[in-house]
Amino acid sequence: MTSVSLERMSKSYGPVAALQALDVHIEDGEFLTLLGPSGCGKSTALACIAGLERPSAGRIMFGDRDVTRLEPHERNIAMVFQDYALYPHMTVRENMRFGLHQQRMSRAEIDRQVATAADILGLGPLLDRQPAELSGGQRQRVAVGRAVVRSPAVFLMDEPLSNLDAGLRVRTRTEIRRLQRELGVTSIFVTHDQEEAMVLSDRVAVMRGGTLQQLGRPMEVYRNPANLFVASFIGSPAMNMVEANARITERGVTAQATDAAIELPRDVVRSTWDGERRVLLGLRPTDLGIAAPDRASLRGRVFLVEPVGHCAYVDVDLAGWVVKATTDPDHVPSIGDVVGLSLMPGRACLFEPESEARL
Ligand SMILES: Nc1ncnc2c1ncn2[C@@H]1O[C@H](COP(=O)(O)OP(=O)(O)OP(=O)(O)O)[C@@H](O)[C@H]1O
Ligand SMILES: [Mg+2]
Repeated sequence: MTSVSLERMSKSYGPVAALQALDVHIEDGEFLTLLGPSGCGKSTALACIAGLERPSAGRIMFGDRDVTRLEPHERNIAMVFQDYALYPHMTVRENMRFGLHQQRMSRAEIDRQVATAADILGLGPLLDRQPAELSGGQRQRVAVGRAVVRSPAVFLMDEPLSNLDAGLRVRTRTEIRRLQRELGVTSIFVTHDQEEAMVLSDRVAVMRGGTLQQLGRPMEVYRNPANLFVASFIGSPAMNMVEANARITERGVTAQATDAAIELPRDVVRSTWDGERRVLLGLRPTDLGIAAPDRASLRGRVFLVEPVGHCAYVDVDLAGWVVKATTDPDHVPSIGDVVGLSLMPGRACLFEPESEARL
């Protein structure tokens, strides 16, 4: 096993800059996710790490070994793609054993490795079946099992769960995480699903247009987004953004939004400025609650109610700004009601509207 360092790694396809000077260090045994919207360069980055693509500039280090110019088979990596390619004429057991023969491993060792992975992934009862006799989720688990039994130095996964239905996705991701913890193999996972990234990862690298936007632990990225893009991309439902005028005062920060003044603690902003400035005030729906109108400084009219089970989301129209709040699903207001909004002021984030930078 090994650490992985991407050092100013760039990749261009003709005029398309798919990756721009990516700097990421992945610790030995760490589970890192590359997260971002379609086309941001996730698969390109993974293909460079695997050796399937060659970076246009920069270096890739596995520990202190420069692997930038090595062929894939010289890198000791295992990769799982979105479309699991199993050998159709082989049983699950044979599929999982296949790569191991080439590694000149003893029979007993191969059996032990296959049994361990099959056990963690719940594949024991399926070992003698052929891929055609398995469900999509089972096939994907075999593909994961086949990759990890080879004890690779680095385990690479490109959207391995996206072909699965919702329930299976959740179960399979739990299994991937367990397997990775148990084997301690350095893993790089690609997804555009922020929830998947949050639950799986030790750290998440958020990408946009071939550039790294933020690298941090899941809750760090969630609570402390570096910019408007990260704030909007992470978290579902998305963070509310309200235009406001903000002023730094002796007690903290005052944000004047619509006709209400909202008092925020000083530490919600990292910078300082004189007088008033236009900002975007970001508040997550889960940090906004419904209150009695006379007990809240922010008031608006209920526009939409969405019960989701454990809570209900309420869209409230604040003089033209529709924001989403969260409430008890058993006590929801009616559409058209005037309600107050309670907020967790310490959780607010302020952004510069033009540069989209965090203030
Ligand atoms: N072989 C190629 N030739 C030209 N352009 C390419 C090639 N491969 C990728 N690109 C471009 O590079 C950019 C990054 O593509 P990449 O496949 O890495 O995105 P991605 O983040 O994996 O997206 P998705 O979530 O859709 O899989 C895109 O603009 C894409 O069109
Ligand atoms: Mg991709």
